[in-house]
Amino acid sequence: MTQPSLSHDLHWWQRGVVYQIYPRSFKDNTGNGVGDLQGVIEKLDYLNDGSTDPTSNDIPKSLGIDAIWLSPFYPSPMADFGYDVADYCNIHPLFGSLDTFDLLVTEAHRRGIKIIIDYVPNHSSDQHPWFIESRSSRDNPKRTWYIWRDPKPEGGLPNNWGSVFGGPAWTWDETTGQYYFHQFLKEQPDLNWRNSEVRQAMLDVLRFWLDRGVDGFRMDVIGMIIKDTKLRDNPTNPDASPDLHPDDIFGRHLHLYNEDQDEVHEVIRIFRRLLDEYGNRCAIGELWCDLPRWVKYYGENGDGLHLPFNFRLLSLPWNAEAIRQSVEQMEAALPTFAWPNYVLGSHDAQRLATRIGSKQARVAAMLLLTLRGTPTLYYGDELGMENGVIPIEKMQDPQGLHFGPDRNRDVCRTPMQWTDGPSAGFSTTDSSTSEPVEPWLPVSADFESRNVDAQSAEPTSMLNLYRRLLWYRRATPTLQAGRYMSVDAGGDDCFVYLREHPTGKCLMALNFTDQSRTLSIPNMQNGSLVISTYLDRTETVSNSTLSLRPNEGVIIRIE
Ligand code: GLC
Repeated sequence: MTQPSLSHDLHWWQRGVVYQIYPRSFKDNTGNGVGDLQGVIEKLDYLNDGSTDPTSNDIPKSLGIDAIWLSPFYPSPMADFGYDVADYCNIHPLFGSLDTFDLLVTEAHRRGIKIIIDYVPNHSSDQHPWFIESRSSRDNPKRTWYIWRDPKPEGGLPNNWGSVFGGPAWTWDETTGQYYFHQFLKEQPDLNWRNSEVRQAMLDVLRFWLDRGVDGFRMDVIGMIIKDTKLRDNPTNPDASPDLHPDDIFGRHLHLYNEDQDEVHEVIRIFRRLLDEYGNRCAIGELWCDLPRWVKYYGENGDGLHLPFNFRLLSLPWNAEAIRQSVEQMEAALPTFAWPNYVLGSHDAQRLATRIGSKQARVAAMLLLTLRGTPTLYYGDELGMENGVIPIEKMQDPQGLHFGPDRNRDVCRTPMQWTDGPSAGFSTTDSSTSEPVEPWLPVSADFESRNVDAQSAEPTSMLNLYRRLLWYRRATPTLQAGRYMSVDAGGDDCFVYLREHPTGKCLMALNFTDQSRTLSIPNMQNGSLVISTYLDRTETVSNSTLSLRPNEGVIIRIE
């Protein structure tokens, strides 16, 4: 297990908290119903206004995050809402221009906010000039930049791989008489990372953004970029649910050959060397594999990703035992150089407050911001935003359109709720008609009460809980850098753990039930209860018995 470090020894991506912005949905500054980069600039003070007074007990005005990760803003036909990139080195006019991006970097840095951008190396758009060339003829120099194959000798698809978004992962190209491979939509052909020119071109993309001052990359489905050389058939997954959609070929297979191939680590090491040349930059990767394989993405000696995203808490049953086990297994699996991280929401997942309920969402906030490791917070979760209700005719997500509302990701992408005004303050009014603009996805019906303005005015709101927790974390080296230890306080309903550091100790006790619980904390020294998730009590704790109300979490600073 990793030894404690002093918080001033930590890198920004270890000490800080990442906030994910889905640019389409955060703030529309141009009045076209789609969020944009100028909108993000406008809201930077909300995220972190650069003030440095975390010691005050008042609830701070700004959230206090340290970095923003922006989902894609590149030119794109938007078949997968920007994850189909048509130009890796530009900005879609919907979102602004390179000048707007430069301004965002400057304004963010002025406030001490780091900028992490999405890098989508596995596939481009079918409208990317590289693919347009590649599909133009079999002997085009870019032909081998993508994955083209003949039908099997007996006819039919080159192998049995399925697309994540349904159906086979191969599409027939009439003009050149071959299939091309796409792990996602047919509009998202996979790049061939075994081709050295592709590698060079995609490394140049990283350089382009590093030179513009970005601090890190979130690398989309990074474990998928290298495929089996022979493109062998994937075996059937014996545990696949019988209820899968008939078209869900991907869901029926074990992904032995289409992802997580050993050679991917060599490519990641190359990325890493490049980032290290620039210094103090961060590589985060989207990965979906079991713990032993996942740990390998840190590299053999820490020369891999800084943070392979840890999504385990997203899919576990929400109970103290399951969460504790997951945390311990991860802590035990990490080599000393590896830094943990946790994700509780994203643009691909159900909203946290919908999945576990709004009361437990407060406990989840405390968990996320007090475990050892870098937390990633999804926009709107700080308000407890719930899944949006999207009428079928307004559905946009290609996954939802293919598999049906149960797998519709629009639900977690509804506009950020700023005010109780038109479009929840997300869009401006249309400059030509002065009418309120209709956002690209419907604003959730609860916006009149659940919005930044309303929750700022309510001392014990979810937003103020996040602010309080974030600023307490900023002021407390123990929470940034301290060692993690689980505490047995009796019973399986509460998760109790200690963070320990030369500068002090913090004990967290989280009640995962909707009933009161009394805990017995072994070797409890005198302490102060500094934050309750109800934000209504601070008190001295002088004995080993600790009572928690239903759905309550507390932080106790031990003297
Ligand atoms: C990642 C993204 C998801 C996207 C997919 C294809 O999983 O998070 O939103 O649809 O990759 O790029």
